[in-house]
Amino acid sequence: MSAELFFPFKRITVNLAPADLRKEGSGFDLPIALAVLAASHQISVERLAGHAAVGELALDGRLRPVPGALAAAEGARRNGSRRLVCAAESGAEVALAGIDPVEVGHLAEAVSYFRGEGELPELGARDVPDAESTAPDLADVRGQERARRVLEIAAAGTHNLLLAGPPGIGKTMLARRLPGILPALDDEGALEVTRIHSIAGVLPAGSGLVRLPPFRAPHHTASVAALIGGGASPRPGEATLAHRGVLLLDELPEFPRNALESLRQPLEDGVVAVARVGGRAIFPARFQLVGTMNLCPCGGRGDPRLECTCTPLALDRYRARISRALLDRFDLILTLPKPRGAELAAEEGEGSVVVRERVVTARARTTAERLAPEAQELLDRAVDRLPLSGRGRARVLRVSRTIAMLAGAGTVAAEHVAEALSYRSPGELT
Ligand SMILES: Nc1ncnc2c1ncn2[C@@H]1O[C@H](COP(=O)(O)OP(=O)(O)OP(=O)(O)O)[C@@H](O)[C@H]1O
Ligand SMILES: [Mg+2]
Repeated sequence: MSAELFFPFKRITVNLAPADLRKEGSGFDLPIALAVLAASHQISVERLAGHAAVGELALDGRLRPVPGALAAAEGARRNGSRRLVCAAESGAEVALAGIDPVEVGHLAEAVSYFRGEGELPELGARDVPDAESTAPDLADVRGQERARRVLEIAAAGTHNLLLAGPPGIGKTMLARRLPGILPALDDEGALEVTRIHSIAGVLPAGSGLVRLPPFRAPHHTASVAALIGGGASPRPGEATLAHRGVLLLDELPEFPRNALESLRQPLEDGVVAVARVGGRAIFPARFQLVGTMNLCPCGGRGDPRLECTCTPLALDRYRARISRALLDRFDLILTLPKPRGAELAAEEGEGSVVVRERVVTARARTTAERLAPEAQELLDRAVDRLPLSGRGRARVLRVSRTIAMLAGAGTVAAEHVAEALSYRSPGELT
């Protein structure tokens, strides 16, 4: 396709205001091309009014989608534009911002649109089906009743969860099934997650709103920058891509210690602050952390039929990879037993759909603010007797409330606190 346009061979000044803000990416190709065409009277300036444009131009004039179309569309709308010219792949995203996308495949199409020649691309409402959950089903897990219970509590209260135990007992399997029992995102959350994923370039082309909580499972070779973000012009990391969703760190002790430690601040504040020469970037990072680990390097611990061959030194080194401060941020810590033969041969367990319904119901309930006197006493005694930090106490209280919500109780009872406390004694891990 040839555009049959000419390039004005004279001095051209393109002003990308504000000048002090560093611009990046190829999304300015199309708007710059349109501005040059308007300045050289090949399309009328009046017709450009009310329009914004974003997209990368290939050498043959074809228009390519760029990351961040949703954010660009939201900005265009704020600035009073009614329509945004973009690549077809970006249309669904642009429409989410409440602005009409004008989808074009080639610069020439954009030009004939502005000249009022071609067919006007179809505008307005579109139906992009919501993505279905691809998370595997909980029904696959046999036995491990306590782990199922803890997974449900974690889902209901968005608590951080650490699953420990010998190899091959279903830790990874269970962790991967958490997203499947989480409720869908609300409108505001969905828009925020879609915006983040769009900017980061991980949103599949043509997709609409991200309704499902994100699930990120980076490999244990991930660096600090990959995990929390960074780079010369800071890019968001896995912690931000997992915002409002789940960050799974499978084989927790295998991650570089500095990478794990870098998660401490976002785990507390829900944001990542990356300072660079070029400026400071703050990324949202309110994620639910799920970790899995063995009890020792050889994996023999926790399995009554195996003998652990680790030396005390190797064991100490292994445990030192996870700081107490990080461990303290897990609301729920569970050591899974090796399931018995009969358990593994049992019928399918409850499926994710049923569990998710209970989670949704629990979240819709109002939190039990009041503690029964016995519950208060139990908590006080626990603080005195257990190595429970101030943060630990607050986390036990939060988990107790979640357990009360799952039970539909109006007040937090002693039994709720007792159960919450039972997930806070990582005896085998320290
Ligand atoms: N409780 C279980 N119910 C059903 N299948 C199980 C169970 N436990 C383990 N399996 C089977 O064993 C495989 C390995 O489980 P999984 O990867 O979850 O183990 P793991 O505890 O993460 O082990 P590792 O410590 O070696 O990572 C699963 O894919 C599944 O097929
Ligand atoms: Mg595993």
